[in-house]
Amino acid sequence: MNERSTLKINGAGHLEIGGCDALELAKEFGTPLYVFDEDHIRSMIRVYRRAIEENYGGNGTVLYASKAFSCMAVYAIAQSEGAGVDVVSGGELYTALKAGFPAQNIFMHGNNKTEEELEYALSSKIGYIVVDSFSEADILDEMCSRRGVRQRVLIRINPGVEAHTHAYVQTATPDSKFGFSIANGTADQMCRHVLSKSSLDLVGFHCHIGSQIFERQSFVLAADKMMDYIAHVKSTFSLEADILNIGGGFGIYYTDDDPKLGEEDYYGYLKALCDEIKAKAALLKVREPALAIEPGRSIVGEAGVTLYTAGAVKDIPGVKKYVAVDGGMFENPRYALYQSKYTVVAAGNMNAPCTQKVTIAGKCCESGDIIAVNVPLPEIERGDVLAVLSTGAYNYSMASNYNRNFIPEAVLVKDGRADVIVKKQTFEDIVRNDVIPQRLK
Ligand code: LLP
Repeated sequence: MNERSTLKINGAGHLEIGGCDALELAKEFGTPLYVFDEDHIRSMIRVYRRAIEENYGGNGTVLYASKAFSCMAVYAIAQSEGAGVDVVSGGELYTALKAGFPAQNIFMHGNNKTEEELEYALSSKIGYIVVDSFSEADILDEMCSRRGVRQRVLIRINPGVEAHTHAYVQTATPDSKFGFSIANGTADQMCRHVLSKSSLDLVGFHCHIGSQIFERQSFVLAADKMMDYIAHVKSTFSLEADILNIGGGFGIYYTDDDPKLGEEDYYGYLKALCDEIKAKAALLKVREPALAIEPGRSIVGEAGVTLYTAGAVKDIPGVKKYVAVDGGMFENPRYALYQSKYTVVAAGNMNAPCTQKVTIAGKCCESGDIIAVNVPLPEIERGDVLAVLSTGAYNYSMASNYNRNFIPEAVLVKDGRADVIVKKQTFEDIVRNDVIPQRLK
């Protein structure tokens, strides 16, 4: 629980978020329930915007990386805070547009966008497309000429910066499927390729070195390499980049294994980036490009809490104790995928001493269906409400209907009120797209 968060323990000893008692939320909306703290989301966007304002003369934008949590309400919040967004699929683009998000403030990413997605992006007059393959540049250029339009594009670059994070979420290693490597010369080939396209306007470069990164130096190094590349492009292709999109990846607090960052720390990441870019621009005699950053996790991660009701408690003597909850890998697959760690609390008994270590299991028919391992908790009984903290990023957005469970409802809390932002699924939703062919009847 930190300064940006409205998470607290209220007078009744219950967890409170956004002025709402977690037990009352669980009662009103049912569990599992994703709860999002609106003030937290807004304050994170504001920190980043202020940092760009104060350290880079406002010459930049915060693009919320909506893959972290995509639903119409979050695009509405991003828009009202003056942020742009990045989308990585037709589905995210549709959601943003449906929420009324202005297309010109949207960047589209993806290492393998489909032709339908590219058509959709063009017909929506999206601001920027980050191209990530030779064939994509071919297709996009052809689509643009057919329509008689020009499209602003950036090239995704792999600056070859290793960041300390889980292997699956590292994206700028030499064997990455993303981007074009500066080191092996493919970045130059792609530059030449895009510049040969009559309907594509190459306005800049993008990189993203990974996710859940804490080392300031990793970001600074990426900026350093990208500025070197921008200078190289100027001398080789006579092109001055307008935009440098440096990606996202700023880490958040999940457990005491992670640093607990305050606003000034996130501000510090951006200040370091801005300082590096300005210094390099002066040194290399290139124009300071407009800066774009794409934080996802750090905007919504700590803003989210998932509430569960405890069910079966199983003590395997001398081995471990399981507390099973009414959620699982269908609504939070991160332990199953990355062995991610979480802090779990007894939402109705926050002041009770933790007397045991338990493993929080889900309800899916799979042994790997775990939410958190070995977490300290007080005694837990069936019916108790548990809260898993820092679940705002990559939980709902990676949820599935595995075992035909419902993807939980999401509510947005602020000043003691809670509004549904993603409705509860129903059995009807579960079978909505199922078809029994005539011959099976
Ligand atoms: N920009 C690009 C191009 C990205 O690929 C990503 C994340 C971001 C921005 C936002 O990064 P963030 O600020 O959220 O770290 N499912 C994984 C995380 C995958 C991140 C993918 N790309 C997880 O649950 O940890």
